[in-house]
Amino acid sequence: MANEVMFTTKSEKETMDFGRFLGRQAADGLFIALTGDLGAGKTHFVQGLAEGMGIHGVVGSPTFTIMNLYEDGALPLKHFDFYRLHSEDELWNIGWEEYGQGGVVVVEWADMFPSLIPDESIHIEIALSGETERCISVSWGPMAPEEVVKEIQNYAAGH
Ligand SMILES: Nc1ncnc2c1ncn2[C@@H]1O[C@H](COP(=O)(O)OP(=O)(O)OP(=O)(O)O)[C@@H](O)[C@H]1O
Ligand SMILES: [Mg+2]
Repeated sequence: MANEVMFTTKSEKETMDFGRFLGRQAADGLFIALTGDLGAGKTHFVQGLAEGMGIHGVVGSPTFTIMNLYEDGALPLKHFDFYRLHSEDELWNIGWEEYGQGGVVVVEWADMFPSLIPDESIHIEIALSGETERCISVSWGPMAPEEVVKEIQNYAAGH
């Protein structure tokens, strides 16, 4: 069975729609590792994800805070951005051990510290492929949650 699917989105809204879709499937322990070019759409994906999880607060970029925590949905959402982190220590110091698991964890620039990304993670790479077109590659390993993987495969097949 393939462990990667790819599809394109043609607008910011379509990328957010995919986020909303995943947000509706989200269960406790879901971990999403985001990678991709600057300005590819990672934060917009997370905005959709939050909406799909029933979170209504404005989702901004956690670039200057390292993490934003949203607790007004059924599950907490922990939104990290590793872009400006200099070392893993900084992350442990702000409580990675507690915040890096449980609820739903989503990390922008996850490839900066790959050793922090758990085996059950769903990896999503967003690549620029046109002015408003993005190539979305989703991959996972054998530890990833099966239900979510099935839903992603169906989603990709319909796009
Ligand atoms: N298909 C698309 N999907 C997502 N965003 C798109 C798309 N087409 C255009 N955009 C635009 O690309 C930008 C994406 O910004 P966003 O902050 O989400 O990117 P990012 O990957 O989080 O950037 P950074 O690396 O700085 O964190 C927005 O201005 C958005 O309107
Ligand atoms: Mg961002």
